[in-house]
Amino acid sequence: MDHDFWLSRWHANQIGFHEAEANARLVAHFDALALGPGGRIFVPLCGKTRDIAWFLSKGHAVTGVELSALAIAQLFEDLGAAPTITNAGPMRRYSAANLDVFVGDLFDLTQDMTGPVDAVYDRGALVALPAAMRTRYAAHVTRITQSAPQLVICLEYDQTLMDGPPFSIDPHELRRLYGGQYRQTLLGSGRATGRLSHLVAQESAWLLR
Ligand SMILES: C[S@@+](CC[C@H](N)C(=O)[O-])C[C@H]1O[C@@H](n2cnc3c(N)ncnc32)[C@H](O)[C@@H]1O
Repeated sequence: MDHDFWLSRWHANQIGFHEAEANARLVAHFDALALGPGGRIFVPLCGKTRDIAWFLSKGHAVTGVELSALAIAQLFEDLGAAPTITNAGPMRRYSAANLDVFVGDLFDLTQDMTGPVDAVYDRGALVALPAAMRTRYAAHVTRITQSAPQLVICLEYDQTLMDGPPFSIDPHELRRLYGGQYRQTLLGSGRATGRLSHLVAQESAWLLR
């Protein structure tokens, strides 16, 4: 998936992946991360997810990264917050209380830019990327977060029925990507609903530690 693919999706408002409320599996399984008060959560490929508002409401700090400036303008509008916008290397940094979002390519983000994070939340990130890019993504996220624990929400379905995104991520793929650094535990899974119901997809929440 190249950048234009995603930028044009945002411009055409073709964002079927966006959920109106915080993700149900996040709400059900967040405690498994055992995050201390005020802990900072890294949200790669964040879009304008409502999950960010949910983290902030729990008193956590959030660092996001997203390609689309339009998405991030909408995120801050939804939050009712006016961001302070500064340059950060090749990226732009949008900041408000407890929230920093880098706009640009995830692969340009460094550990110096994010600072320490306590956990990673991936919903819609791994599943958005084709296999070769997933390998690079997983290594990069592991490196810049220094193997912080992750809550990963992914989808599993018969990939012959549809081209991604979203791509199917099964437990073997998760092990291929993260097995060297993390132990993976299935927290829960169930039939995916909504726009993916025709695929008989399973949505699963994994803890990587
Ligand atoms: C499937 S959406 C998921 C958005 C969000 N996590 C959610 O759950 O609603 C994937 C997002 O990744 C962004 N994206 C894709 N490639 C990216 C990259 N290389 N760097 C930063 N963001 C990227 C897209 O613009 C899109 O908003």
